[in-house]
Amino acid sequence: MTFKEYFENNPVAKGLQGRDLIYMDDFSREEILEVLNLAKLMKTGVIDRCEQTKILWGQSLAEIFEKPSLRTRTSFETGIYQLGGHGMYLSPAEIGLGKRESVHDVANVLSRITDIIMARVFSNSTVVGLAENSDKPVINALCDMEHPCQVLADIETVFEHKGCDGKNIKFTYIGDGNNVCNSLMIICSKLGINFACGCPDGYLPVEEYVNKASNYASLGGVDMIVTTDPVKAVVGADIVYTDVWASMGQEEEAAKRAVIFADYQVNSKLMGYAKSDACFMHCLPAHRNSEVTDEVMDCANSIVFDEAENRLHAQKAVMALLGNRY
Ligand code: CP
Ligand code: NVA
Repeated sequence: MTFKEYFENNPVAKGLQGRDLIYMDDFSREEILEVLNLAKLMKTGVIDRCEQTKILWGQSLAEIFEKPSLRTRTSFETGIYQLGGHGMYLSPAEIGLGKRESVHDVANVLSRITDIIMARVFSNSTVVGLAENSDKPVINALCDMEHPCQVLADIETVFEHKGCDGKNIKFTYIGDGNNVCNSLMIICSKLGINFACGCPDGYLPVEEYVNKASNYASLGGVDMIVTTDPVKAVVGADIVYTDVWASMGQEEEAAKRAVIFADYQVNSKLMGYAKSDACFMHCLPAHRNSEVTDEVMDCANSIVFDEAENRLHAQKAVMALLGNRY
């Protein structure tokens, strides 16, 4: 199949052209499913690798990084290349976003020269500012509030392992109610996946996200549980997911958090409360034997590397849908 054949009678795909992805809530349920559909078509070769190189042929991707990365950089850079384009890594030292030059001016310059802007930033307001001042698609590749690209890859992985619509499954997040947790709550509740979140008091996800996700969950007739009890969150889970206890930029809190989060470690005992075939997920990088033990990371039901690979496929679909000019 060519991309043109996929695209021409697909109003949902057409509706994504030229858009930004800042918040997971920017995409409707149908649009999220369309991203996952295209990711699968490209991953499985229904749209083959040669056809894929025509989708963004000659386009360039600006990759703004205020923070370190392994998966995000390699998957975006490989992805744009596979779609026929070119990625440009812009380190904090190079462009000095908001310091050497204002967000407004950087966005204006990049949107004149490049075709898609991807940004990993400290503050959500920076990626919002880029989107407001750019007429090219802007993709949030992690900020303090969200990590939408991560959770698209996560749900692609869940569908691969647990069935293609995620119906009747329980997805549990354990640990810090952070950027990844926020995006997960939104995507799961929008797609009708039961969601439970177990975080220590003081580290629960922000009310705005919990309320939004709870509304989506009740509309979809699924459960949304937010608790400080890790066992209650994990009981009967099909997926157990965790992330670092101290995110990038919170390193000085790591020792304090290690004490507070000790009971939230995903180990064999905690996994024992989940279903016997429950899968373990982590966005990575993992701090082995802190938030997750080696035993769980390396167990047969750990799907963390499928998840990491799917960053490539999910983000190719996002770039193809937002950036194509068909
Ligand atoms: N999961 C994730 O975003 O990994 P990186 O920080 O290595 O990009
Ligand atoms: N919550 C983590 C995710 C890393 C991919 C962070 O923000 O550092």
